[in-house]
Amino acid sequence: MKNLSINEALKIAENKYKPRFNHILGVYEKAEYLADKYAVDSYKCSIAAILHDYAKFESKNLMLDVISIYEPSLVSYDGAVYHGYVGAYLVQKEFGINDVDIINAIKYHVTGHPEMNDIAKIVYVADYTEKGRTHKGVEFCRYLSEKSLDLAVLGCAEGTYDYLISKKQANIHPLTKSTYETYLKKVGGNVYDTIKDNYKSMR
Ligand SMILES: [Fe+2]
Ligand SMILES: [Fe+2]
Repeated sequence: MKNLSINEALKIAENKYKPRFNHILGVYEKAEYLADKYAVDSYKCSIAAILHDYAKFESKNLMLDVISIYEPSLVSYDGAVYHGYVGAYLVQKEFGINDVDIINAIKYHVTGHPEMNDIAKIVYVADYTEKGRTHKGVEFCRYLSEKSLDLAVLGCAEGTYDYLISKKQANIHPLTKSTYETYLKKVGGNVYDTIKDNYKSMR
């Protein structure tokens, strides 16, 4: 199958989930911006950004059907992580998207992954920091996204992990924690603390 164009992907996304289309446009815009800023493949970032939530509103039954065949270990974790894996499966099946960078960026956009490449990092960060987001800590993560992709991933992973802990969510997927721990190590705890202090002093 020929490569999907950006406009074709946008049409698919718009038809698939109208109520969430503003979020999709926000993620697409931020992903394009970051791809340009960090010299990463803009086409792959854009397609993955536009289709990242493709399975967001699928029924729990369909998601469980897909997961029980392709990723059975997921079943014991919180359902919020399913749509990344199911979305990756569906875009492959329905649109013939086999590019491993696009597929992995969609698959891991909820949990992150310790070994994300720059395309997956960009989609992960864009999803968390797009302009429509208002959650706690989003401004700090936007600030980090101007500094480096690894720092931005760390900020988003920390925010996600802290949020799930504060909600006392049981069965947090291990990739959520390992993404946070891996990027904290990569950036360095002391460096990260200094950046946080600098950020606070600027407010
Ligand atoms: Fe999502
Ligand atoms: Fe999203």
